[in-house]
Amino acid sequence: ESVVVITIDGPSGAGKGTLSQLVAKRLGYHLLDSGALYRLVALSAYKLNVNLQDEQAVADVASKLDVKFDVTGDTTKIFLAGENVTDAIRQEAVSMNASVVAAYPKVRAALLQRQKDFAQAPGLVADGRDMGTTVFPQAQVKVFLTASAEARAERRFKQLQQKGVAVNMEELVKDIKARDDRDTQRATSPLKPADDAVILDSTSLTIEQVLNAILAYVR
Ligand code: C5P
Repeated sequence: ESVVVITIDGPSGAGKGTLSQLVAKRLGYHLLDSGALYRLVALSAYKLNVNLQDEQAVADVASKLDVKFDVTGDTTKIFLAGENVTDAIRQEAVSMNASVVAAYPKVRAALLQRQKDFAQAPGLVADGRDMGTTVFPQAQVKVFLTASAEARAERRFKQLQQKGVAVNMEELVKDIKARDDRDTQRATSPLKPADDAVILDSTSLTIEQVLNAILAYVR
């Protein structure tokens, strides 16, 4: 493929979202937030009263997903059937349900082409769990970004605190580990580094340091 694809995979809270945005901005590339798609499926299923245990029904929701990513400058607004759900899809309940629906092979299959379509000139930064292994196996640059569960929970804690959301640190660590387990242990496209991915541990690095490491690797 002539379009350059950079994949950034890793567990929740490792900083993929922030880093992917920064890399995309720096290079003038498009951005795929694949986690948002799974979150949208979870939210949509909830709104449509679809039973989350019913794989086929959830996959139907995924294939019919009416979503629009509205990019202006640094901000992306996400619309589900015309409704702005940018904040709604970040709620903890949606995070949990996203990792439940993401374990269904039929849901992943339903979202595959939609994700591939994001690869447009001049390039794409794809953020997720299986970008380098499944969705863009031919990507020129693959990064696997990790950090300890505690460091990831702490970052999330600070984010939520800033938003004025009351949270319990132990609960956060527990939630993060539960999501990690579901993501790494599922049969279809489990979270794992591609064989040709460079592994970056951000536990004791600043965003700036990680950004520079990724950009150096791209060059
Ligand atoms: O990255 P984010 O936390 O927004 O993703 C939400 C959930 O979607 C993850 O916990 C994971 O279960 C799922 N996901 C996935 N594959 C991706 C991106 C996200 O299974 N490529």
